[in-house]
Amino acid sequence: MKAEAKNIIYKELVDKDRLPEHIAIIMDGNGRWAKQKGKLRVFGHKNGVQAVREVSEACAEIGVKYLTLYAFSTENWNRPQLEVSALMELLALTIKREIKTLQKNNIRLNAIGNIDSLPEKSREALKETIEATKQNTRMTLTLALSYGSQEEITNAVKNIALDCLADKLKPNDINPELIGQYLYTKNMPNPDLMIRTSGEHRVSNFLLWQLAYAEFYFTPVLWPDYNKECIFQAIVEYQQRERRFGKTTEQIHQ
Ligand code: FPP
Repeated sequence: MKAEAKNIIYKELVDKDRLPEHIAIIMDGNGRWAKQKGKLRVFGHKNGVQAVREVSEACAEIGVKYLTLYAFSTENWNRPQLEVSALMELLALTIKREIKTLQKNNIRLNAIGNIDSLPEKSREALKETIEATKQNTRMTLTLALSYGSQEEITNAVKNIALDCLADKLKPNDINPELIGQYLYTKNMPNPDLMIRTSGEHRVSNFLLWQLAYAEFYFTPVLWPDYNKECIFQAIVEYQQRERRFGKTTEQIHQ
């Protein structure tokens, strides 16, 4: 009851006319959350799914157009085999289970990363849901899966080089906009706000190019405890910051 009353306060403080168009989140702290409760890491991931649901709902509700969640990094493949397969299983299960909710809420599912490296079951569930929700317009929910920004940029550089060799491009045509068109995120605006939970202050190979002008927000809350109240609070803080994009305060207020 108390949390709900607080939730309403943060939601009411959000200025709907100055929403971040795109929020990107590094969901961190599932393992520590489980450990604190004397449970296995997988228990933390399972409870992290509820936070994914809450945050997606909150963003759609308030009018955020793009939400990108870092669900599995290229480096996460190095975790114990049991944890990796449990995460993949959970992913396939969750995507299948949530398809109705996505449709009901007019949310489009999208994925970035090396999707072909996922096990068949997760890959198929993902492809099916992406296809089924592709006409939805309220919000795009992107899962970064087997995603690594350095790998993404490396692939972009390779493809640009190949297009130059094939005479489709000239080296002089290469500029930041063009590079953006060779990234997984080519049809999305860059994130305005990047949130990382669990008290870590790193970007960990997440959207390195795209976060150039994003506001960073760090919170000690562990991901399974992250809820609507938390995301509204982050948006309120974002709205109190001044985004200068390299200009001076005076220029911004001219
Ligand atoms: C980080 O916590 C979390 C992950 C690597 C996985 C995130 C996955 C989920 C929230 C569940 C499935 C997601 C979807 C989209 C259905 P950690 O394990 O690194 O925590 P720690 O730093 O405390 O060890």
